Amino acid sequence: MVKCGIIGCGVIAPTHIEGYRALPEAEVVHLCDLIPERAAALGEKYGIARRSTDYRELLADPEVEAVSVCTDHASHARIVVDALAAGKHVICEKALGRVPEDLAVMVKAAKAHPELVSSGIFQHRYEPANRRLRKLVADGKFGKILTVNLVFSCLRTEEYYRKDAWRGTVAGEGGGILINQAIHHLDQLRYLFGNAKRLVSRTANLTHQGVIEVEDTAAFLMEFDSGLFGTVTATNSSCVEWRSFLTIVGTEANLEYANEKPVFVESSIEGRAAEIEQALTVREEEKGAIVGKKYYGAGHTAQLADFIDAIQEKRRTEVEMADAADSAALVMAVYESERTGSWVDIPAY
Ligand SMILES: NC(=O)c1ccc[n+]([C@@H]2O[C@H](COP(=O)([O-])OP(=O)(O)OC[C@H]3O[C@@H](n4cnc5c(N)ncnc54)[C@H](O)[C@@H]3O)[C@@H](O)[C@H]2O)c1
Repeated sequence: MVKCGIIGCGVIAPTHIEGYRALPEAEVVHLCDLIPERAAALGEKYGIARRSTDYRELLADPEVEAVSVCTDHASHARIVVDALAAGKHVICEKALGRVPEDLAVMVKAAKAHPELVSSGIFQHRYEPANRRLRKLVADGKFGKILTVNLVFSCLRTEEYYRKDAWRGTVAGEGGGILINQAIHHLDQLRYLFGNAKRLVSRTANLTHQGVIEVEDTAAFLMEFDSGLFGTVTATNSSCVEWRSFLTIVGTEANLEYANEKPVFVESSIEGRAAEIEQALTVREEEKGAIVGKKYYGAGHTAQLADFIDAIQEKRRTEVEMADAADSAALVMAVYESERTGSWVDIPAY
């Protein structure tokens, strides 16, 4: 049994608590939040008696072996570094950090503690359709992939941004649509197609003037290590709650993939389109339970299972700290390109 602590008891924390509760080998024993009422509300709901307001108190709890970091972006680096120094396995919510300096110290700490499991949340990698799409790509079912195009749209209102002081600020969130919402799908691009080497971007605040300091809309062009070109447009001022459209164009097959479902497939190879469509069609019984908002998907429980298994089996997780840092670095490169007005090389951790 791995005993776990949760640092940060806001919106995403129940998804972690319920994820651990679904696992026979995990138990949440300690909750921490700067606001005591938040830890108390979750503690009462889930029967977790030990609570604190200072995360260092949770890290000093000898029973806690592993921690989930569920706080705002600006606090992730300090908490993760302190958790590893305290000898705890750690899994941190996206975006791993707020600025490149955060990523550097987090990855350095993770590498200094190879005996501890350290990971970043990107739960969509654990969804069956995404895993199968990755295999289709790796198996060459699209032929040589030439271009990919991601159109991501969601809706974040003024009310959403006014709810918590960190949201929509440079100091608290580090960015807007890209670092908070689109990052899931930017990570998906890396998961499917590998790293990108450089990009050029524009970002703007089109509908949240006077409400946020950061971008609500962005567009960029990227060149992957493999040579394929990708374009991304993203906005959180749209009319829908959450929609990702990914188009893959290859020499043998094309796919339009919307919110993890195939909506259009075509191929010059007989039977290939049906094969791709069938592989990406997930049966109801294969879908896990969603805890939280529908667009979180059901991946948290599967990712936490990987984290707990990795601790017990003394192995690495599927999303190592450096890997999660690379997806955050992609976002930060977009901001750097907007600042400099030129192509930016994307660092790899
Ligand atoms: N993976 C996903 O689908 C998903 C979904 C939502 C949020 N998130 C991520 O989860 C993180 C938290 O987001 P949220 O929406 O739950 O935010 P939130 O503001 O609702 O909750 C954060 C909580 O952390 C607490 N906190 C901040 N600093 C702390 C500290 N030093 N010690 C203890 N508690 C502290 C705050 O008081 C707050 O209650 C963010 O990184 C966000 O991007 C991920």
